[in-house]
Amino acid sequence: MQCCIIARLKTQPLWFGLLFVLGLFSLLKFFIAFLRWVYVNFLRAPKNLKKYGSWAVITGPTDGIGKGYAFQLARVGLNLVLVGRNPDKLKDVSDLILAKYGKSQIKTVVVDFAGDVSEGMVKIREAIEGLDVGVLINNVGISYPYARYFHEVDEELLKNLIKVNVEGTTKVTHIVLPGMLQRKKGAIVNIGSGAAIVIPSDPLYAVYAATKAYIDQFSRCLYVEYKKSGIDVQCQVPLYVATKMASIKRSSFFVPSTDGYARAGMRWIGYEPRCTPYWPHSILWVLAYSLPESLVDAWRLWFCLGIRKRGQLKDTKKKE
Ligand SMILES: NC(=O)c1ccc[n+]([C@@H]2O[C@H](COP(=O)([O-])OP(=O)(O)OC[C@H]3O[C@@H](n4cnc5c(N)ncnc54)[C@H](OP(=O)(O)O)[C@@H]3O)[C@@H](O)[C@H]2O)c1
Repeated sequence: MQCCIIARLKTQPLWFGLLFVLGLFSLLKFFIAFLRWVYVNFLRAPKNLKKYGSWAVITGPTDGIGKGYAFQLARVGLNLVLVGRNPDKLKDVSDLILAKYGKSQIKTVVVDFAGDVSEGMVKIREAIEGLDVGVLINNVGISYPYARYFHEVDEELLKNLIKVNVEGTTKVTHIVLPGMLQRKKGAIVNIGSGAAIVIPSDPLYAVYAATKAYIDQFSRCLYVEYKKSGIDVQCQVPLYVATKMASIKRSSFFVPSTDGYARAGMRWIGYEPRCTPYWPHSILWVLAYSLPESLVDAWRLWFCLGIRKRGQLKDTKKKE
């Protein structure tokens, strides 16, 4: 069979042979990429996060993905510093975690990232003083209440998006990193978004997507800067996760619950600088990259205009 193919190839013109080799090479590349995808998603062992240090700091742990991560980190035996804006919700989450994983120690810090961030950073600095913080999950983030054109974004929302999504992550990292540097180990996870990386544009969510593009590049640069110092920086790129922020609230195969997402996310901490931990999301990623950009742009605009219309209707009903 093999000889037959080679014999046939010999009778073909040179260009045909070259095309054949190129085709084979592409197939091999695809096959290796597929094997790697199977390995990293299902077979690779997660890192032992306790090796980074015994404490983890999580921002925005009172709901959604952050809450999922708080439970998962306590499950593997880490002590937690929970940084959120609502003292009652912080207490509820701490109580729930302690009831489930009694061994963990938990500290809470009340910080409103849309408020006085400098004051908040002083509180975080004091809370982590003397702790060997090995893991930082920069999760806090806000989006638009619903999709809208850029000129419709009011100043308050504009300011908060940049403060919470950009300033929050940047400053918390700036405070936690020096301790990690001293101990020469640490893992930093910044939660980005498919809005900035997977789809070519996120119309009607321009500022949100742009803040997440910042998170992506910030993470990549830090990954390169600190790799040699034993600090693993990563940008995790979720697509839709069923939370109060997302426009899709019900979980399904392509939309994980917060617990489902955090469980998947834990397996990736400390590895690649950018990843999408929930494996069905990576199928959508490949799909988005395979289609013409203009087609994905048009689909996304249509989808977001639908969200905008429903949001405006709700607003009108509230006013009536
Ligand atoms: N859900 C998705 O589909 C999705 C997709 C891609 C990326 N992401 C990213 O994932 C991260 C978490 O999102 P999520 O969907 O889990 O959102 P979420 O359910 O709305 O939870 C956000 C968390 O951040 C806290 N938070 C919000 N504003 C804050 C502020 N000003 N100061 C302090 N804490 C504040 C919230 O506190 P309260 O409990 O007090 O509200 C909550 O704990 C975000 O960075 C988001 O951009 C989400």
